[in-house]
Amino acid sequence: MKDILLKEFERVYGSNDGVRVYFAPGRVNLIGEHTDYNGGHVFPCALTIGTYGAVKARTDRKLRFYSMNFADAGVIETSIDDLVYDKKAGWTNYPKGVIWAFSEKNMKCDHGFDIVINGNIPNSSGLSSSASIEVLTGYILKEMFGFDVSNTDLALIGQFSENKFNGVNCGIMDQFAIAMGKENQAIFLDTNTLKYEYTPVKLTGAKLVIACSNKKRGLGDSKYNERRAECEEALRRIQTVKKVNSLGELTGADFEEVKSVIKDPVLEKRARHAVLENERTVKAVAALKANDIDTFGKLMIASDTSLREDYEVTGIELDTLVSEALKVKGVIGSRMTGAGFGGCTVSIVKDEAIDEFIEKVGAAYLAKIGYKADFYVVEVGDGPKEI
Ligand code: GLA
Repeated sequence: MKDILLKEFERVYGSNDGVRVYFAPGRVNLIGEHTDYNGGHVFPCALTIGTYGAVKARTDRKLRFYSMNFADAGVIETSIDDLVYDKKAGWTNYPKGVIWAFSEKNMKCDHGFDIVINGNIPNSSGLSSSASIEVLTGYILKEMFGFDVSNTDLALIGQFSENKFNGVNCGIMDQFAIAMGKENQAIFLDTNTLKYEYTPVKLTGAKLVIACSNKKRGLGDSKYNERRAECEEALRRIQTVKKVNSLGELTGADFEEVKSVIKDPVLEKRARHAVLENERTVKAVAALKANDIDTFGKLMIASDTSLREDYEVTGIELDTLVSEALKVKGVIGSRMTGAGFGGCTVSIVKDEAIDEFIEKVGAAYLAKIGYKADFYVVEVGDGPKEI
């Protein structure tokens, strides 16, 4: 991959002398969906697929961006004096947003750079290609300008740029999972305190299989911000009778006691998902630690049911992938992952059932939806690094 990027850098910008190449992973969330902006727990892991960036400092203030994934867009040029969101600038709003976010935190770049990006995460798939490029950019800035930031800071700055520059009120999960990724470990993160713990993803005799629905999803134009606002409204109503800072602080039993003040069936469903999904996540991590993969799988399935019925963020494409997956013997658990409304599912599949899984789920999906799903048998990888 390094050679491909170096060659492309030379082709695009004329020379690759002094170019350095960096990598940041994508992520998959195993359980704990739509809990991160509700002060709950999440359990994601970084993947070995991700985003690569070949970069070289410039002496002037220009920024030149080129992505092998959006080759038609060509080289997009701007400068460190023009860090404003611009719809026409497409994908470059992500790295630009991070440079802007650093400057907002008083870490100002005093020169520009040329960069070539190449990612092997399917775009808009729910595997966080955007957070991957945000953390990649943050890591590059830290290395190039010597900014004193930890990997947790890189996650927070990435989230800040996504919230304030790109207008998506996402939680911290994606950027955190990517910045803090560790080979073969998932991250049990309390999004309320940012306390975290690594837990080995030991799936003896089974693997993680991602099925990509190929239904494109853009967080900005999805109902993501609406769900977040619904949870906030439900919380406000609960706060009239109980002292609580987030839905993540409630147990299922607490919720039963206070739910009558919500007085809106839709808001009640949204809040119930946030509360019970948080409980499921805590239980699932305990099960994985105890090598009880079957319980982990059952909790994944319960998570998906809740995302479908209470949170209503699935849709026919994801529902088809999960229901077909569950028909295959050897599937231990299956659920949508990420924001939903399209994107991917993640399943735990026994080694001997993987071929049949891909064949059967793929065929049923094509027959019902009319276009193909893509399958990836993935591995849990490290956080950002220079390669
Ligand atoms: C997106 C957001 C995350 C999280 C998930 C849902 O991936 O970026 O912060 O809210 O959706 O769990």
